[in-house]
Amino acid sequence: MKTIVYKIGDTEASVWLSEAEKILKEGGLVAIPTETVYGLAANALDEGAAARIYEAKGRPSDNPLIVHIADMDMIGELVSELPDTARRLAEHFWPGPLTMILPKSEKVPYGTTGGLDTVAIRMPSHPAARKLIHETRIPLAAPSANTSGRPSPTRAEHVFDDLNGKIEMILDDGPVGIGIESTIIDLSGETPMLLRPGYITREMLSEVIGSVEVDPAILEVNKDKDFRPKAPGMKYKHYAPKGSLLLVSGDADKVVEKICLLSDEKRKEGFKVGIIATDETKDLYRCDSDCIVMSIGTRSDEDTISHNLFDILRRMDKAEADYIYSESFGEGIRGDAIMNRLLKAAGYQQIFV
Ligand code: TXA
Ligand code: MG
Repeated sequence: MKTIVYKIGDTEASVWLSEAEKILKEGGLVAIPTETVYGLAANALDEGAAARIYEAKGRPSDNPLIVHIADMDMIGELVSELPDTARRLAEHFWPGPLTMILPKSEKVPYGTTGGLDTVAIRMPSHPAARKLIHETRIPLAAPSANTSGRPSPTRAEHVFDDLNGKIEMILDDGPVGIGIESTIIDLSGETPMLLRPGYITREMLSEVIGSVEVDPAILEVNKDKDFRPKAPGMKYKHYAPKGSLLLVSGDADKVVEKICLLSDEKRKEGFKVGIIATDETKDLYRCDSDCIVMSIGTRSDEDTISHNLFDILRRMDKAEADYIYSESFGEGIRGDAIMNRLLKAAGYQQIFV
């Protein structure tokens, strides 16, 4: 299959819109930019189209998809119930990087929800995604547009690297803004529960709807075989770069020292080493040709860190790093969201110094 790439800024909206609509109506796949990460979109009400998403990504079929809408008129046919908490959160955070789990309507096929009686709904704020959904009126099932297990795509090139030849179209609108996937909150049970941390924090949610519990599986190390996160996708190995990633946590100067030590050892053994540093520390690492230092952003603005996180993991792969050592970023208000992704990428390999 030939994958067509449209650069949104260089193409008349009427052109990419009508081409994308045609593909979606025929059950095809279009990768779209959103404010969080690129999504791989198909008609959420078409079970065959949803099946193609799983096939293209190599995604386990019990891992449900998020359905994207453009306005509140579209939610009625997708859910069997809209609790007051959901309305209030929608007013505050939609369009934006928040996904709500709600009881599904009969119209939403089990092929989209991975066999669950609930459906995940999000109203993205990205102008191109909104325009496409608004004009076509098609609710779009869209997981992140990466091969299952690989870092989520924050640029159209990432989508191309993973899915070229497997999907009909990529809409390229450059790098995304936020860089980590939406916050997921489950509103289908008694108490609202955070299933995936993201840009919208637990505190921000609590300010609107009161107490929010946190799925204990979120930051826990997967030691227990019965570990079963409520968002099925949270249980899979995720975001993994090809090299072995280790997170080093502790006081900044000790962390730098430890990473230098570890990387010297591996380089002596003949391995290529990658170091994930920050603007503040990048010049403190002694490195030569067998070692690459990349800054993930600045500690004075943690949004720069989430923005670059998945890109840096992919760049480490391109640089063929065998061992990757990363500083840790748990301190800020989005520390949970950032560390959740990095810990999964590291297969929970972390040391404290
Ligand atoms: O920011 C985002 O959410 C991006 C963009 C494209 O919108 N999408 C995204 O989708 O990250 P995906 O498929 O990579 O992650 C969806 C997560 C998975 O962990 C999945 O298990 C969970 O949402 N999920 C979906 N439906 C669910 C449901 N009914 N109950 C519990 N978890 C659900
Ligand atoms: Mg994903």
